[in-house]
Amino acid sequence: MNTILIVGATGQIGSELTLELRKRYGNNHVVAGYIKGAEPQGELKESGPCALTDVTDAASLAAAVKQYRVDTIYNMAALLSVVAESKPSLAWKIGIDGLWNVLEVAREHRCAVFTPSSIGSFGPGTPRVETPQDTLQRPLTMYGVTKVTTELLSDYYFHKYGVDTRSVRFPGIISNVTPPGGGTTDYAVDIYYAAVRGRRFACPLRQGTFLDMMYMPDALQAAISLMEADPSGLLHRNAFNVTAMSVAPETICAAIQKEIPAFEMSYEVDPLKQRIADSWPDRLDDSCARAQWGWHPTYDLPAMTTDMLSKLKLKLSH
Ligand code: SER
Repeated sequence: MNTILIVGATGQIGSELTLELRKRYGNNHVVAGYIKGAEPQGELKESGPCALTDVTDAASLAAAVKQYRVDTIYNMAALLSVVAESKPSLAWKIGIDGLWNVLEVAREHRCAVFTPSSIGSFGPGTPRVETPQDTLQRPLTMYGVTKVTTELLSDYYFHKYGVDTRSVRFPGIISNVTPPGGGTTDYAVDIYYAAVRGRRFACPLRQGTFLDMMYMPDALQAAISLMEADPSGLLHRNAFNVTAMSVAPETICAAIQKEIPAFEMSYEVDPLKQRIADSWPDRLDDSCARAQWGWHPTYDLPAMTTDMLSKLKLKLSH
């Protein structure tokens, strides 16, 4: 086997994905790609090769692919939904000009490519509940515009050039290693940090705002098992609906209170985040992913809450 390159290896998903892939395929077979100012630290830096690979710099991608004989690229570079609203041109530059660079390098060097899409690729006209795999995608955000374009361009490279592109539409990802930055679903991570720190949490989304979420181990499993799947079973490619739970702020709060009864939450609604959340589905139908490559999540809300709280207690006690 050749080598995997993770572009954006120091981000929320990339940092854990890199270590998980190193565990599965061997440290030397997984290159952590990073940009200036976001250098790998600790285990990420020490456990395997690292390479400066800026998605907006095609030459840096090509150099890493050649040097390490890369055959698979996980392209995790992106600006999340809220920050992309304040920097739409940078979001496009990273999300789409960057994707173009990744796909061109992949075409030339015959690499497979995983570039995540998102629940953000849907918009207010999409059915909110049991959102079908194939449905209307007219997002209002720049993040969503880049994700729909990601799906289209990835499919285009598959059909036109035979590049093995695959993707999932991730829901909000809840994790305890690297914090997310600038997303609408970040509250579902922040709430656990507040609970473990013994603080009241001011929730930026209104009560009753349901969104799909997933715990990080399931997100990693989704990406890796899709990339390992037998291509003959894939009727879709870019991108599969995947979900693990549909939750609102009060349901996460109640799950935390089962373990930390003194935990309190209030609401301080952020109008931009609320507008974005209101334009996204409440609950996806992920039956195509289940049928075509065996997707099934392990963590529901109670199991995730128990694990998040115990990991964060350990982390924050140091
Ligand atoms: N977590 C992302 C965001 O909130 C959605 O995919 O922007």
